Amino acid sequence: MEHSKYCSGMSNYVSSTLLVLTLIIVLNAARAGAEVKVHIVYLGEKQHDDPEFVTESHHQMLSTLLGSKKDAHDSMVYSYRHGFSGFAAKLTKSQARTIAELPEVVHVIPDGVYELATTRTWDYLGLSGANPNNLLTDTNMGDQVIIGVIDTGVWPESESFNDKGVGPIPRKWKGGCESGENFRSTDCNRKLIGAKYFIKGFLAQNKGFNSTKSPDYISARDFDGHGTHVASTAGGSFVPNVSYKGLAGGTLRGGAPRARIAMYKACWYLEEVDGVTCLNSDIMKAIDEAMHDGVDVLSISLTGEVPLLPETDLSNEFATGLFHAVAKGIVVVCAGGNNGPEAQTVTNTAPWILTVAATTLDRSFPTPITLGNNKVILGQATYSGPELGLTSLVYPADAENSSGVCESLNLNPNSTMAGKVVLCFTTSRTNTAIASAASFVKTAGGLGLIISRNPVYTLAPCGDDFPCVAIDYELGTNILSYIRSTKSPVVKIQPSKTLSGQPVGTKVVHFSSRGPNSMSPAILKPDIAAPGVRILAATSPNSTMSVGGFGILSGTSMSTPAISGVIALLKSLHPDWSPAAFRSAIVTTGYLANRSIRRADLCKRVIWQSS
Ligand SMILES: *[C@@H]1O[C@H](CO)[C@@H](O)[C@H](O)[C@H]1NC(C)=O
Ligand SMILES: *[C@@H]1O[C@H](CO)[C@@H](O)[C@H](O)[C@H]1NC(C)=O
Ligand SMILES: *[C@@H]1O[C@H](CO)[C@@H](O)[C@H](O)[C@H]1NC(C)=O
Ligand SMILES: *[C@@H]1O[C@H](CO)[C@@H](O)[C@H](O)[C@H]1NC(C)=O
Ligand SMILES: *[C@@H]1O[C@H](CO)[C@@H](O)[C@H](O)[C@H]1NC(C)=O
Ligand SMILES: *[C@@H]1O[C@H](CO)[C@@H](O)[C@H](O)[C@H]1NC(C)=O
Repeated sequence: MEHSKYCSGMSNYVSSTLLVLTLIIVLNAARAGAEVKVHIVYLGEKQHDDPEFVTESHHQMLSTLLGSKKDAHDSMVYSYRHGFSGFAAKLTKSQARTIAELPEVVHVIPDGVYELATTRTWDYLGLSGANPNNLLTDTNMGDQVIIGVIDTGVWPESESFNDKGVGPIPRKWKGGCESGENFRSTDCNRKLIGAKYFIKGFLAQNKGFNSTKSPDYISARDFDGHGTHVASTAGGSFVPNVSYKGLAGGTLRGGAPRARIAMYKACWYLEEVDGVTCLNSDIMKAIDEAMHDGVDVLSISLTGEVPLLPETDLSNEFATGLFHAVAKGIVVVCAGGNNGPEAQTVTNTAPWILTVAATTLDRSFPTPITLGNNKVILGQATYSGPELGLTSLVYPADAENSSGVCESLNLNPNSTMAGKVVLCFTTSRTNTAIASAASFVKTAGGLGLIISRNPVYTLAPCGDDFPCVAIDYELGTNILSYIRSTKSPVVKIQPSKTLSGQPVGTKVVHFSSRGPNSMSPAILKPDIAAPGVRILAATSPNSTMSVGGFGILSGTSMSTPAISGVIALLKSLHPDWSPAAFRSAIVTTGYLANRSIRRADLCKRVIWQSS
């Protein structure tokens, strides 16, 4: 009846088309409203000892909700069943709401993204080695203690994971060495005793991810290099005669050189963003497995975004999983984040974990810049080439129709820079922009780069042979005034000098996230600080910072494993201490730089030497 009416004439044909279009739009709207996302359903303490039984109960709950076993199976991403009970599943918002109503469900939250707590400063200097230390022998260097690291994976062939002189694998260990892309189960040894990877949450979040095309390894192998750096800082073995570009030399080691390492890879390199992301659902599974495997210490150099939002913090963070880990006796050490120096930027603020800030090493690299008017300005660089004699100086924004912003130097005609030293300004806190600016100036025939930025501390990664000097905005403005005051501005740059002061870090570094704890100001955070600037450790040969498998990074990512290493040592001495006892020992003895309290001495000296 309707049909014949619609087909009776042209105008009716048009209205029928409109109707169909409207229907499609309505259907699409319904689908958009029903977008499926990974949610974490947290059920608290597990109700059964048998993990199979726990998983079965998760499937049952999901089947009841979704109407079939098959749908439940397709929706399930992870079942958390060792350390606590819960699961990650692909759900619509309304399904998530329904499941949250169930009495046995504590909370349901959408999956969240975390990042590495590292500022990428592969600065071209700084080397520390350490020799065997008597204090370490008391603790047997952390032997038998297992440090679990949740990060970007590990490069198992690195010398830092050699197992020379390391005893048999601890009996309590129940973990494994999972094979995968370029990773064999035999790649573990008595030092690196475990390696697992968790990617299902990442795949659900990045539906277009092509594992064939990705340079990352779909296994516990580390592409980025961060995880290898963190693991070797916490528990790397002795590696004799490490030198960085021929500068200095010595024995490199982690905080607890006989401790065992277990890597849980939950962070993946994503080409589209040229960076690493970590999904809460993957991290939660890593925690669940680490609890099953028997780690003693968990070292987590990952942070969420600030500000912490009340509705997402405690539930959205992997802090709930960590609560169970701590209740089981595992000491958990997390990075406080690199969002300083503003107040209330600290992350990982749960009271049951140790939250770590970063300090500087008291060391700087003054580099004299002499202007044509004989004014000398001290910048920061790691330039070891010959003195650059009087050279033309240019601010590209003045010289031609182009930019004075470091990130936009590539908009400049090359002619502006050839044979000259270039001044640019940036607000970028990362070094990626600087690295590409320097490389552009070099290609364009420039002879040097002066970067005006705040903070100055991060030395630009321009190579030792290319003067690339950082100064603050005030000095940058001074230089610009000089350029504008004369027809032919010139500059001279001398090689950098190294200034070392006291051996123990004395200042919290500017980037280290500060308290107070914005979630609960009464809970003081961060708990402790350790060196986190220009830390040399092992890395992946695929990392841009790698020089012969070693590299330098800065961040609370680096100070965190320093503390994990110290805890591994203390754990050797006091296997019966609770996580609270370790936390107490660390926060009540760590603050004195030099006093003859033995444990304080132990902490400080070890922290210093592991850097
Ligand atoms: C993934 O990348 C490989 C290599 O570039 C390509 O051959 C393949 O078609 C891609 N797969 C998908 C699903 O895009
Ligand atoms: C240490 O390494 C340097 C350069 O790599 C080498 O010349 C030197 O012989 C090594 N020293 C020892 C004791 O192995
Ligand atoms: C100056 O730069 C802008 C932006 O790059 C461009 O649109 C414009 O054509 C340039 N003018 C001249 C004279 O080169
Ligand atoms: C400018 O530099 C780029 C490299 O950054 C180079 O590819 C290009 O050929 C140069 N252009 C001129 C005109 O020299
Ligand atoms: C990563 O490093 C390994 C070992 O040096 C090399 O074989 C591999 O090709 C590198 N991968 C990429 C994507 O560069
Ligand atoms: C610590 O203090 C003592 C006594 O004041 C001094 O002799 C020693 O050199 C100091 N140690 C360090 C590492 O500063």
